[in-house]
Amino acid sequence: MMATRLCALAELSPGVPLRVELDEVEVAVVRIGDEVFAVEDVCSHADFPLSEGEVEDCTIECALHGSRFDLRTGKPTGPPANRPVPVFDTTVVDGDVYAELDT
Ligand code: FES
Repeated sequence: MMATRLCALAELSPGVPLRVELDEVEVAVVRIGDEVFAVEDVCSHADFPLSEGEVEDCTIECALHGSRFDLRTGKPTGPPANRPVPVFDTTVVDGDVYAELDT
């Protein structure tokens, strides 16, 4: 499995989503404390970028209609979305954040 570089850790402000556009996928990257979460940056409700939304308690809220997703699992925790968004495992190596995108 190949790890893809998403960004530098220093680019991430705690709790503020960063949109990273790659060839294969757009990713919303969120740092919370020492952890970095990465989810596909497409709301499962109507395809709005989740990175436009706000983060609270490991949950990201879609800015368009307010769906909420658990950043750890991608599962919806608040309507109207009822399908999960893909999540990607991340690692931090030498100050850069990598994700396993082909899971
Ligand atoms: S597009 Fe995200 S809640 Fe509707």
